[in-house]
Amino acid sequence: MLRTHTCGELRIKDVQQRVTLTGWVQRQRDKGSLLWIDLRDRYGITQLFLEEGKSAPKLLETARAVGREYVVRVTGIVVERMSKNDKMPTGDIEIKVEEFDILNPSKVPPFTIEENTDGGDDLRMKYRYLDLRRAPVRDSLLLRHQMSQQTRAYMDSLGFIEVETPVLIKSTPEGARDFVVPSRIHHGEFYALPQSPQTFKQLLMVSGFDRYYQIVRCFRDEDLRADRQPEFTQIDCEMAFVTREDILHTFEGLIRHLFKKVKGYDLPALPHMSYADAMKNYGSDKPDTRFGMTFTELNSQTQGKGFQVFDSAELVVGISVPGAAGYTRKQLDELTEFVKRPQVGAKGLVWVRYEESGTLKSSVDKFYDEAALKTWAAACSAKPGDLLLVLAGPTDATRKALSELRLLMGSQLGLRDKNTFSALWVIDFPLFEWDEDAKRFNAMHHPFTSPKHEDLHLLDKDPAKVRANAYDMVINGSEVGGGSIRIHDRPTQQLMFSKLGFTEEEARKQFGFLMEAFEFGAPPHGGIAFGFDRLCAIFGGAESIRDFIAFPKNNAGKDMMIDTPSTISQDQLNELALSIKPAK
Ligand code: AMO
Repeated sequence: MLRTHTCGELRIKDVQQRVTLTGWVQRQRDKGSLLWIDLRDRYGITQLFLEEGKSAPKLLETARAVGREYVVRVTGIVVERMSKNDKMPTGDIEIKVEEFDILNPSKVPPFTIEENTDGGDDLRMKYRYLDLRRAPVRDSLLLRHQMSQQTRAYMDSLGFIEVETPVLIKSTPEGARDFVVPSRIHHGEFYALPQSPQTFKQLLMVSGFDRYYQIVRCFRDEDLRADRQPEFTQIDCEMAFVTREDILHTFEGLIRHLFKKVKGYDLPALPHMSYADAMKNYGSDKPDTRFGMTFTELNSQTQGKGFQVFDSAELVVGISVPGAAGYTRKQLDELTEFVKRPQVGAKGLVWVRYEESGTLKSSVDKFYDEAALKTWAAACSAKPGDLLLVLAGPTDATRKALSELRLLMGSQLGLRDKNTFSALWVIDFPLFEWDEDAKRFNAMHHPFTSPKHEDLHLLDKDPAKVRANAYDMVINGSEVGGGSIRIHDRPTQQLMFSKLGFTEEEARKQFGFLMEAFEFGAPPHGGIAFGFDRLCAIFGGAESIRDFIAFPKNNAGKDMMIDTPSTISQDQLNELALSIKPAK
């Protein structure tokens, strides 16, 4: 190596040593008689200094000539600092420079490469390789590395083997659009990039591999959000000869192992919550259980008093917000505006202040006297000082809107601390969801998920009521993983496809290989996939998964650095027998 030590390594015990360091110049401070340089590498920052009159003039001249991000190599003596910096691990020492080489100069970087930067999102994405020099981004990738190492250690210890599955495949129906790749040899034919290795991992079970996992890239052409990227990574897992309980136990073990090893945190056992309860009590299938404010249905307390909005509603439902009775009229108006946003979709908001004095005041005093309001407060277990927020309307939409409001209140009251972790399993999802546009059922998880045995008789009569043997893991309101026990026989799989509106021919064409495999001794099996980027973001206390991916796409699905997607040459198009319609 060109160095004897890294920039994060030297301590007071190293004083008097002669060392050689390499790295990037983070900043330079020239006080005339003294010159300091902060030298940075992946491991940390070490302070260098040169002194007028004591350091050789040539040396000072070279050191003065460097700018930010120059790559340099210095040799010098470790000395104790006069004024120590206890915020830096190397803050007790500095290097008295005796040799100074510039290995490569640098242009002035387009943004400041320090903990806090002045660079906007687009600029930092364009120069991602520079952004990756910054400590917070670098640390996110180091965390990701630890997470994958610990995942492999845990899976290996339980006899799971990592198998790579192909990337050029045929479409898998996970609910998003496919990215497709045109074939040069077979004109007019396309590969699809996998939305997940779902069918392959099931085939590996038929092959007898028994315990499979893979840290694998998946591709989905869907709208982007903070927790979604068009290419993302799963910890994809499958096991044969298991019940749901075996899977929940094994993968709860994985998550607890990761928390223990990576964060030194003992995650408590994960509670199980049915989908029905999650929707009823939180209005969401991924409830943030770091805080309470569970829903209370108030139909019986509120209806029949002449308030038309409530009387005509399918559901009247509220939350009690602890200690928020002091919210001002302006704040309450802002909450009303919030619930009326199209994304939230409520018509309006009813509030009740349960004042410290014990009196109750509401936005619907005309219709409800204090005694009536007391019954609401009692139903919601509200105490003096609390604020009741009530919505009304169609059940699903109203629950969804109140769920958004609950999350907002949780954030406003500081109850969603990123260093607190609350994990649970949501189980017993419906097998189907109704697609209003297509006027048919879709698989809620995917079409390979088995119905719960006790609900099989409903498959013909009342498909919407059939529960799936499916489960999600939720941490802090984020769906970090999901899976199911699978169908493993041809007749059931075929029945499932027919319920999803596939003709026999369509099912055979798309999934004949899987159904045929089921006829050659398929073991009962099931599995799960975790969103690896999401897990990393939660462990790193971040909302967005972007910084946990070395080279992510921006919100428009573009990579600004390499400038893609981009056009291809006419020759390439010809070779693929593709023509592009001119833009309108
Ligand atoms: P599912 O579609 O639920 O299941 O995906 C599993 C997990 O992957 C994460 N995830 C994403 N992360 C980032 N960006 C995206 N665009 C994105 N989409 C999904 C989520 C999700 O919980 N084959 C099944 C698993 C199985 O049944 O075993 C599957 O892919 O955290």
